[in-house]
Amino acid sequence: MNTPSKLQKWVDHWVELCQPDSIHWCDGSEEENRMLFQQMVNSGMAVMLNEKKRPGSYYFQSDPSDVARVEDRTFICSAKQEDAGPTNNWLDPSEMKKILTEKFRGSMKGRAMYIIPFSMGPLGSKISKIGIQITDSPYVVVNMRIMTRMGKKVTGLLGDGDFIPCIHSVGSPLAPGQKDSKWPCAPIEQKYIAHFPETNEIWSYGSGYGGNALLGKKCLALRIASVMAKREGWLAEHMLIMGITNPQGVKKYFAAAFPSACGKTNLAMLIPTIPGWKVETVGDDIAWMKFGDDGYLYAINPEAGFFGVAPFTSMETNPNAMLSCWANSIFTNTALTPDGDIWWEGIGTDIPEGTLTWTNEVFDKEKHKVAAHPNARFTTPANQCPCIDKDWENPKGVPISAFIFGGRRPGTVPLVYQSFDWNHGVFMGSIVGSEVTAAAIGLKAGVRRDPFAMLPFCGYHMGDYFGHWVKIGSTAPDKTHLPKIFNVNWFRKGADGKFLWPGYGDNIRVLKWIFGRVEGTADAIETPIGNVPPKDGIDITGLHGAEANLDEVLKVDKTEWLNECELIADHQALFGSRMPEELKAQFEKLKSHLNK
Ligand code: GTP
Ligand code: SPV
Ligand code: MN
Repeated sequence: MNTPSKLQKWVDHWVELCQPDSIHWCDGSEEENRMLFQQMVNSGMAVMLNEKKRPGSYYFQSDPSDVARVEDRTFICSAKQEDAGPTNNWLDPSEMKKILTEKFRGSMKGRAMYIIPFSMGPLGSKISKIGIQITDSPYVVVNMRIMTRMGKKVTGLLGDGDFIPCIHSVGSPLAPGQKDSKWPCAPIEQKYIAHFPETNEIWSYGSGYGGNALLGKKCLALRIASVMAKREGWLAEHMLIMGITNPQGVKKYFAAAFPSACGKTNLAMLIPTIPGWKVETVGDDIAWMKFGDDGYLYAINPEAGFFGVAPFTSMETNPNAMLSCWANSIFTNTALTPDGDIWWEGIGTDIPEGTLTWTNEVFDKEKHKVAAHPNARFTTPANQCPCIDKDWENPKGVPISAFIFGGRRPGTVPLVYQSFDWNHGVFMGSIVGSEVTAAAIGLKAGVRRDPFAMLPFCGYHMGDYFGHWVKIGSTAPDKTHLPKIFNVNWFRKGADGKFLWPGYGDNIRVLKWIFGRVEGTADAIETPIGNVPPKDGIDITGLHGAEANLDEVLKVDKTEWLNECELIADHQALFGSRMPEELKAQFEKLKSHLNK
């Protein structure tokens, strides 16, 4: 292979340090993929699913210590601690490299080293970035093949040019003759997910799961990309991208930021319950956005697949996701049925007798609370999604008309409201909060602030990040083309503890109002927190009993919001002098509106 020298030198360095038994340059081919799966089936790491039920698909169970992102073990190693900010773990870059160099020394003994060239974004798009991941996990290789454009086609684009180097090891070397475990990884306190934003490097050690290990996703496309985006004047966000077409055939694109496991995949693939509307998917997790020559903000999805939450995904709640993962998919930590298919809570069928739990025990309802881990996930190619947008790989991206923020809020936050203007919208994004979910390990239950759904993914000081959003608004080439900004909450609960809003496909009713606001045709009522729909502004035709709840779900309660203000004050204080004046002013305005 004609390997560019910069790449070869970098690989040689890691080969010498990690001491793998063999080296494999991934070409991304079918044969390579089959060979890796076969190898993992032979070693007992993977189970091939029933070809008749789920062709080309495989099942994995992770180690119980390695089931989600590890925020406590994730570090932003900027040269100065203050640049990582109060919401990131920090260690001096040279100190981190010293620690990790010792961890990586010999860490691949007894294993193969894989070198994965990958592109985040369509091949050859100006917005795309090329990364090279070194890993000792064949599971990572087969996942990266779905989640990114990977292999030979990327090497061809590389020249001797720039790539983002990503080094990964599961941190579990094998002694000669030692039998491998089913899911090798290091104990939690030895895991490190380290980012070096000034030099665009990612070093990940000890975990084989999800965003800890598939380094193109959160590490590159969010933490490193957010820093590049700030430097270069664009946006890298934890957002889905969807196309929405009204009954008259007018199409718009929205991008929405919800914290992990709060409904991005579901909204991106929604099947409308009101006639004439259509939703198409561009992406379900990450958006990269730049202004186009026409002054509109254009978004691409840097990924090529979906790494979606399995539990409660069903033909009822998200048929498009179910149909996407009909074949050629990877299932991790779901349950395994005796006939070789997968099962999870909320899949819509009873659990078959003899099903194995994600911990590989026969399911016993006396003994097991659940059969699938709450953060069990499917990895599936985006092009298998029945509602994939025709422009999902357009290198130019799609023009965004609205940003939607949201989280799981049992109280206080109404079903939908719109910002008064750009800076007020940035303020709304900065105060996003959510009940915590299973997507990260070790978080205390309750509502936590997750600004822009980026708390675990922002590669620099969150106060500066807010400032970057303010600046995007003030320096936009054409302010009239800036996306309008909204906040939604599908998760408000009534006094009986039940959701007030049916959610899922019925969320189109909220999107319809947003669409109308963007077009300038829908009415709104001004409240202290923003503009809300009048009661007849939400189309509830055909929705049983919803009228009774509508007042409650749309309500803006002054007392609740004054309590919220106390939390916002603590939150703003966290960012000290890096909290933009514009957002402090927005907060003062909110309080004075509420006290009127
Ligand atoms: P990440 O991949 O972790 O970033 O998450 P995500 O935001 O894509 O989350 P996803 O769409 O997978 O949703 C996670 C959970 O939220 C699933 O269990 C869904 O069933 C549930 N959910 C999604 N939309 C709704 C909704 O409108 N109402 C209710 N009640 N639940 C929902
Ligand atoms: C999230 O937690 O927001 C995810 C899953 O999308 S992971 O890739 O594991 O971070
Ligand atoms: Mn996510």
